[in-house]
Amino acid sequence: MMFFMPVAVCLMSFLHGCVASSCDEKCADEPVFTPSRLVVKFGSSSSARCSVCQHCHSEAYGLETSVGVRTKNGTMVSWTVDTMTEWDTSAMCYYNDEDTGCQCSSTLPVTVYQPPHSVSINFVNHTGPMREGRQYTLRCTVQDVAPVENLTVTFYKGQTALGPQQSKNNTDQKTPVTEIFTLNITPRDKDDGVQCWCEAKLELGPEGPQPPPVVTSENITATVLYKPQLMTSSHPDRIVITEGNPLQLNCTAVGNPSPSYTWSIPSNGLPTTNSSILTINSIKTTDKGQYTCTITNDVEALTVTFNVDVKANYIVYIIAGIIIAAAVFAVIVAFLYVRYYKHNKMGKYNLKDVFRFHTQHSAVPTAE
Ligand SMILES: *[C@@H]1O[C@H](CO)[C@@H](O)[C@H](O)[C@H]1NC(C)=O
Ligand SMILES: *[C@@H]1O[C@H](CO)[C@@H](O)[C@H](O)[C@H]1NC(C)=O
Repeated sequence: MMFFMPVAVCLMSFLHGCVASSCDEKCADEPVFTPSRLVVKFGSSSSARCSVCQHCHSEAYGLETSVGVRTKNGTMVSWTVDTMTEWDTSAMCYYNDEDTGCQCSSTLPVTVYQPPHSVSINFVNHTGPMREGRQYTLRCTVQDVAPVENLTVTFYKGQTALGPQQSKNNTDQKTPVTEIFTLNITPRDKDDGVQCWCEAKLELGPEGPQPPPVVTSENITATVLYKPQLMTSSHPDRIVITEGNPLQLNCTAVGNPSPSYTWSIPSNGLPTTNSSILTINSIKTTDKGQYTCTITNDVEALTVTFNVDVKANYIVYIIAGIIIAAAVFAVIVAFLYVRYYKHNKMGKYNLKDVFRFHTQHSAVPTAE
């Protein structure tokens, strides 16, 4: 079994054309780095070990690198860096295979990173409030970050993440760069007052720091100017109301800036309010007609129409009729009573007079 292994390897190598130039091919017994990838913060310390080979017999082996200290211990080479001062570095571990005369080597990839020095957000060529429906560009500036290929920038509007972005240029750049990311936004009315910010994250893989370094910008508050919008979802086409009742029309709206209200009312009357609510305490039939509320702000004006129909209140007329009829009846009764009473009184006096006349009349002969 031990004997067949190299044969199998040789056969595989042969299929890949190793006979032509055997030293170009991968070795069967490669140097192994622990860890297999190094992620180091610039200016920090780090270390790795290389196990040169398992079954080789070699005197010529070592580790090539531009920084740090190497220590040999058997076929194990340790590499220690106290302060990482290089942006683009790696380590190569190698040995010369005495059997084949070829050099076997492995490279330890080293990622030297630096979290962004600062992250800031602003609008491109714009300050102050925005208008709804127009397009604006948010700009996120990430300063002095390395390596830029591991950088992901996400814009946030409120709690909503607006698509992560990665650098499109400079992807081979190992030294720190300042990178600008932009995002077009079209604000809506509901975005008024929302906080916007951006977040820069260095995703350095499982060998990197956990959680990955994140630097967040300050917040900017979006002020969005928008046209008035009626708060009541709908109002009836026609309002029918019985005379004598109160009428209240409500055209409360929201908008930025806060809207103002003007009313026009029928019957040539002057409106008594410039608020969003028009109130008539006791409506008359002459108050019927079209009421319009004009809601205005700097952005747009909106007109709301109310058609008000006033029904005569027959109960009032019936009650009034009954009262009048009762009054007329009372007057008649009073009149008749007075006349009858007067008549009775006069009759009495007459009788008395008659009686008195009779007494006088009979007394005369008595006295005679
Ligand atoms: C911003 O304004 C400057 C000068 O007014 C102009 O040169 C530049 O192209 C504008 N940038 C954008 C993205 O519109
Ligand atoms: C007017 O309508 C708005 C929106 O429906 C409501 O919030 C408000 O309370 C109403 N005002 C009156 C006095 O009814």
